[in-house]
Amino acid sequence: MEHTRIKELLQSEEYGKEVIVKGWVRTFRNNQFIAINDGSSINNIQAVVDFENTPDEILKRITTGAAVRVKGQLVESLGKGQKVEVKATEVSIIGDSDPEKYPLQPKKHSLEFLREIAHLRMRTGTFNAVFKVRNALAFAVHKFFQDRAFVYWHSPIITGSDAEGAGEMFRVTTLDLDSLPRNEQGEIDYKEDFFGKSTNLTVSGQLEGELAALAFGNIYTFGPTFRAENSNTTRHLAEFWMIEPEMAFYEIEDNMDLAEALLKYVIRYALETCPEEIEFLKNRLLEEEKSKPQNERSELNLIEKLNFILDNDFERVTYTDAIEILKRSKPNQKKQFKYLIEEWGADLQSEHERYLVEKHFKKPVILTDYPREIKSFYMKQNEPDAQGRQTVKAMDILFPGIGEMVGGSQREENLEKLLARMAEVGIPAEEMEWFLDTRRFGSVPHSGFGVGFERLVLFTTGMTNIRDVIPFPRTPKNAEF
Ligand code: 4AD
Ligand code: MG
Repeated sequence: MEHTRIKELLQSEEYGKEVIVKGWVRTFRNNQFIAINDGSSINNIQAVVDFENTPDEILKRITTGAAVRVKGQLVESLGKGQKVEVKATEVSIIGDSDPEKYPLQPKKHSLEFLREIAHLRMRTGTFNAVFKVRNALAFAVHKFFQDRAFVYWHSPIITGSDAEGAGEMFRVTTLDLDSLPRNEQGEIDYKEDFFGKSTNLTVSGQLEGELAALAFGNIYTFGPTFRAENSNTTRHLAEFWMIEPEMAFYEIEDNMDLAEALLKYVIRYALETCPEEIEFLKNRLLEEEKSKPQNERSELNLIEKLNFILDNDFERVTYTDAIEILKRSKPNQKKQFKYLIEEWGADLQSEHERYLVEKHFKKPVILTDYPREIKSFYMKQNEPDAQGRQTVKAMDILFPGIGEMVGGSQREENLEKLLARMAEVGIPAEEMEWFLDTRRFGSVPHSGFGVGFERLVLFTTGMTNIRDVIPFPRTPKNAEF
């Protein structure tokens, strides 16, 4: 490799050294100054072209988006905003870019427009920063768990079980949709399908993760999951990545401690390893908020917000207490909530979650012990309370601006209780024998949770739409690229 990466050059003080830069032109000013970016840094390096001694054919082809090779001397820069630049002695074009057709112009583009050219948007500073932070967070997730001897576990993507019930599923089939095989009752005959049964894309790796936890002790999954729910919000994707640790012998308090430690660890890691990117994203957010009325702007900037998470304990509150707080809250009394909280048992909407986190506690909140009826069948059942109300050992972690970041629970390890609950909600035990075996052979208390990875990236980058933190978002009516 003959060239040096720009990030390295920008930090170098080896003035006078001959260097070779390869990258893409961001701007070319006055036939003289090329801002070159090679993706290694959000910052460009400036190359100063000796235009009198550079052929016109070359100068013409130094256009925004073109790939160039520049050979020259690393010199101290006189311009402001940069320490070094390259005094070019030789410029060549590696790949042309027609300036009339290249969609990224050297000006500010809206995030909406950039979403339409998602195949090119990572060539901008904002998306360079976002995906560098995403990369750092992903690495930090692995580091956190590997340092604690958790086993990285690969739950299947194609699943033959739809018991999780976490969301609507995408069907996986090779059947010819124009001529479906039917059985005698006229139903679709999945015996003819690729797997000889009906299959779907997984909504969660948890159930297979539980099997592994009862073999290895501590495991985590980190992979794509799929939900066909028609939620067109800034926080939902049809394809998103989830981190799902599952731990044998953990009770709900241990589970909460681990989740809080994980979130703090990965956010700290991003702050420490991506200072330039996060500084850039902080300024981006300040700029974006300028268009909002004063009272809707956040009190803390992005870096302060992230540090605030690191410096404070998450508030741990039961669902029952949260309902009391919400009932008495101003937006409930004044009927400002879209869904008013009237009685115990109601599912919380994101407006309620955000009230608790942003207005009442002003920090991340771990809500526990939800009503059994609004949670999954596998959650450990509490003893009924004095009023006979049934709750489960669920724990959701709510974050400012995001709402639910984590969903988890202690699991019901008692076979009879689990079977009874499955019967109540209509999950056929015959299809779940493999899962139930964990409760038959050496069952132990165990717990786990799922972190929505894009929601974590969303929070850490201060972006406001989840479509801007995954390279190619899949949402209802949208699967481009
Ligand atoms: O709360 P959920 O549905 O929990 C589970 O799937 C459990 N099996 C996890 C476990 O205990 N192992 O999803 C977990 C998290 C949510 O808190 C949210 O952050 C994220 O996944 N999530 C989504 N993120 C983006 N788009 C969607 N459509 C999401 N649905 C859930
Ligand atoms: Mg949930």
